[in-house]
Formats: sequence, C-alpha cells, structure tokens
Amino acid sequence: MTSPLRLGVNIDHVATIRNARGGMHPDPVRAAFIAAEAGADGITAHLREDRRHITDEDIDRLMERLTIPLNLEMAATEEMLEIALRHRPHAACIVPEKREERTTEGGLDAAGQDNLLRPFVSRLVEANIRVSLFIEPDPRQIEAAIRLKAPVVEFHTGLYAALEGDEQARELNRIADAAALATKNGIEAHAGHGLTFDNVVPIAAIPQLAELNIGHFLIGEAIVTGLDASVRRMRGLMDEARG
Ligand code: PXP
Repeated sequence: MTSPLRLGVNIDHVATIRNARGGMHPDPVRAAFIAAEAGADGITAHLREDRRHITDEDIDRLMERLTIPLNLEMAATEEMLEIALRHRPHAACIVPEKREERTTEGGLDAAGQDNLLRPFVSRLVEANIRVSLFIEPDPRQIEAAIRLKAPVVEFHTGLYAALEGDEQARELNRIADAAALATKNGIEAHAGHGLTFDNVVPIAAIPQLAELNIGHFLIGEAIVTGLDASVRRMRGLMDEARG
C-alpha cells in the first residue's frame, strides 16, 4: 500500500462563471465547502494579477471560513507576496503568469530564474507557508528547486494531458522519473493541470506523488452532471406556481 494521495480542488472557474454576471452566484466559497464535503483534502485558488476569476475578497472569505488547507497559486510579484504574507495560507504555489494566456501555459523556469525566485521562496518559507514551485518534469528544474530550498514542487501535467499513445506514455515516464528524483532529494512532489477522469489514473498511480491539483475539468463536469438537478428544481417551482 502506497501513501495516500491528496486531492486539491481548484475553484477558480466557479469564480469565472460568477464574474460573467458580476453578482455572488455561484459562490466559490460555497463550492469549496461542497468539495471538502465530497472528499477534497485542500482547496486551490489562483489570485491573478488581473483578478479575472478569484478576487481578493474570495481569498479573505476562504481564509476566514475554510476548515481544510488553502493553497494559494501566485505569480512571483511583490503584490502577491504581500497578500500571501498577510493571509498566511497553508501553502503557496508559485506559477508563471502571462497576462494574455487563458490558463497557466507551462512550468516556471526555476533554473533560469534562480535569483528572482530565491527571495520569494525564502520569505514564504520563513512565514511557515508550504511553498511549491510549479515546474516541468525536468531534472534541470528539480535541481533548481533543490538549490532554492523549495519544500514542494508541482509538476505540470498539461503536456501529458494533451498527448496521446506512445507520446503520452513517454511523458508519463518523465513525470514518474521527476517525482522519484524530487522525493529522493527530500522535496514533496505534486502534479496538476489538464487532469480528467480519462487521464488521471496513471498519474495517480505514481507512488511518489503526494497531491494532485485539479480544477477546470471538475468544474466543467459539475455543470454537466449538475444541470439535470437544477433544471428539474426550476421546472418544479414553475409547475407548482401554476398549481
Ligand atoms: N496546478 C496549477 C499550478 C495550476 O496553475 C492549475 C490551473 O490553474 C492547476 C493545477 C489545475 O489545472 P486544471 O484547471 O487544468 O485542472
């Protein structure tokens, strides 16, 4: 029996739908409670520079009300560092962030940005926040994480999710090797991005991984599988109103 694998549910896209209308519904905090009730071990939220989904107020409310750990995804900027140090979430995952991207497009270049990342990692670690670096499953990036003394890395599974057949199998091996190398060096290994019911099992079977962070697919699937219940309830209310 291998050690348990934690599930972090990313609630960003509940906020994306809410923000399409600007009100309070659907509320990402309510979604976080439902995810916790359903077996999530933690909640992940990415406060982007442009606040396109999660807002500062969402982070305030999550920190106040969540009873499971919050993993704050953040770019390596002074603004985000100040927010993380003020809130002291359980964990902070440093991600690359480009204004024009639709989602995080790849891992951090930790190897090429040692000097930029070092003060972020050390200040978050000093504040007792479990810092992870979102990186590609590449030995160069793991070596950089070792140099930076990051306690955790999260491997980007986006390429694995986009590939098929032999190419996907090769990428899976790369992730498995990377997880083994990280843990051998005392770094906890997580993974995430693009994971779905169809592709999660081989990743979840990598014994060195301690946590998966999954968002977009889960929220999309919740809309599809939850639509039946919400339409039925509306139908019922309308029918009742007409006796
Ligand atoms: N991990 C990190 C670091 C991410 O940036 C994201 C996307 O916000 C995820 C995991 C989750 O990816 P997805 O939404 O594709 O499941």
